[in-house]
Amino acid sequence: MDNLEKIVSLAKRRGFIYPSSDIYGGLAGAWDYGPLGVLLKNNIKSLWWKKFVLDRDDMYGIDSAILMNTKVWEASGHIKEFSDKLVECKKCHKRFRAEQLKEEFCCHVCGGEITEPRKFNTMFKTLIGSAEDSASQIYLRPETAQGMFVNFKNIIDSFHPKIPFGIAQIGKAFRNEITPCDFIFRIREFEQMEIEYFIKQPNGVLAWEKSFEYWLNQMHDWMKEIGISGKNIFDREVEEKDRAHYSKRTIDIDYNYPFGRGELYGIAYRADFDLKNHGLDYYDEETKETFTPHVIEPTFGIDRTILALLCEAYSEDEMGGEKRIVLKFNPKIAPVKAAVFPLLKNKPELVEKAKEVYAMVKKDSPAGEAGIQPAMFDDNGNIGKRYRRQDEIGTPFCVTVDFETLDNDTVTVRSRDTGEQERVKIDELTKFLHNAIS
Ligand code: GAP
Repeated sequence: MDNLEKIVSLAKRRGFIYPSSDIYGGLAGAWDYGPLGVLLKNNIKSLWWKKFVLDRDDMYGIDSAILMNTKVWEASGHIKEFSDKLVECKKCHKRFRAEQLKEEFCCHVCGGEITEPRKFNTMFKTLIGSAEDSASQIYLRPETAQGMFVNFKNIIDSFHPKIPFGIAQIGKAFRNEITPCDFIFRIREFEQMEIEYFIKQPNGVLAWEKSFEYWLNQMHDWMKEIGISGKNIFDREVEEKDRAHYSKRTIDIDYNYPFGRGELYGIAYRADFDLKNHGLDYYDEETKETFTPHVIEPTFGIDRTILALLCEAYSEDEMGGEKRIVLKFNPKIAPVKAAVFPLLKNKPELVEKAKEVYAMVKKDSPAGEAGIQPAMFDDNGNIGKRYRRQDEIGTPFCVTVDFETLDNDTVTVRSRDTGEQERVKIDELTKFLHNAIS
């Protein structure tokens, strides 16, 4: 089994990610997040929101509708340009993205001859309203970005922001990918965290380049903060012929996935393409000037973040003479922060005390950067087995209530990464965990 297969299997077995519609054989390009997957995803979203929206004074967070007026997609150029090059095998009729067959000129499946590439628009169409005619056809958004552009004027009218400022949002996007593949890497329904940062770009001044560099650095800081290591990340300048129709410059941040290097995030200089096409501009009350701002767009795929984090965290090692699988998540993003056990299941006094400690840990400040919720209680099997189970889901700390606890109100706290145990007073436990997590 290669590492990707092991990760897919662990993700399903332990409740992170399940194939969508599994009992009916699944649906290509769609996955469901289970209880631990949701916790992981929510931790990523709330850390991102805190860093890029709450901690800044120049960012406005929104949550726009997925369904939008078709005129948005006409103006944004998506109806005309948002396509992949598709080729088809003349023999078995399997379809591929042309770039998949780069150097080869025959079908991967049967060796048959393939057609010339043709454009395939990857936007999903759907019908709105009860009349099934073409007038009611709309699209599922293929990027969250347009929700920010069409709310540009609303934000100005409500908040009168001084330029530069940004609009950010987190939400679902849909693309009818020709070949969904590699677990949650290329899927048809995914989530993005995006920023549209509006700047003044006078002629002949390099304002956009400075801002582009600043945001690229911010993206690298973010990856470091959540535990995606520099050694697996590569900035790749995207050639003009491969750039999206709206971009004057793009850098893709690639990650070393088990199946090879692929895009994790991207940053684009969209210039004034979108605001101009939507007929939107900005009036500067100080200079009395009206102009069309330019846009720097840092974009982050959540599903690819999760895949990269699973790849970073997955390891197999030995602890206490036993083999184990461990997810070495940064404690800040780990779905479960602490597990609490009684040393023995059949000693009611230990179970009762452990439940008290568990309730205390669980009640602690709500999830957030340093929050230690959620916690888990486990009294199944021996302590070694319970440690293995928590290691496998990346729980950074296991708290055990033993006989000494009953004498002196202390517990042992075992660290996932070192296996070391420390005795901590129950009174100081939540503070100890907070410090260790943050
Ligand atoms: N608004 C700009 C935009 O959408 P993009 O590079 O097409 O740019 C942004 O997409 C991010 O969304 C990518 O860097 C990636 O993380 C994620 N993404 C794009 N297509 C995806 C897919 N089919 N499956 C999973 N994630 C995807």
